[in-house]
Amino acid sequence: MNKLAEIFENNAAWAAKFKADEPEYFAELMEGQKPKYLWIGCADSRVAAELIMGLKPGEVFVHRNIANLVNFSDLSALSVIQYAVEHLKVEHVIVCGHYSCGGVAASVSGDGHGVVDNWIKPIEALAQTHEQELSALEGSAKLDRLAELNVLAQVANVKMTTPVLAARAANQPLEVHGLVHDFRTGLLKQLV
Ligand code: CO
Repeated sequence: MNKLAEIFENNAAWAAKFKADEPEYFAELMEGQKPKYLWIGCADSRVAAELIMGLKPGEVFVHRNIANLVNFSDLSALSVIQYAVEHLKVEHVIVCGHYSCGGVAASVSGDGHGVVDNWIKPIEALAQTHEQELSALEGSAKLDRLAELNVLAQVANVKMTTPVLAARAANQPLEVHGLVHDFRTGLLKQLV
């Protein structure tokens, strides 16, 4: 018994339905991709980029990591941004955080989590920067606001990346947005 039987069954059913519903679209994907959006989101399994945006394969270029961070030393994120902006010429970069983010909570928990503590250190620093605002909030409200502040900080970072600066200088149409997903309602909220 294949341990991935569930996945292969689902995949076969999905592929059959996709081909039957949109045979031309399926063929077009073979020609290449032309997504309008780059999504930079959290790796959290509950924030499924294409699903919550109602988009099909080929419509969004996706990068996900713990707590949707964009660091200038992260070759993976920077390469994704460069390819999406320079080559795919996406028109929108969406940084999407989410409420009840484990990465955000871990950054200010004071507990040790191993190597991931280094990854989420920028959020801990962000919490210190915004200590005054955050100290007026408690519990999940505090963490949810920190998740929003983190999105805003990552939007600012995206705007400072080399490929985005180059696109701006060349007047290439490109907007950077900050969203937060609430999986209690399933809804997206725009912060910026
Ligand atoms: Co998260």
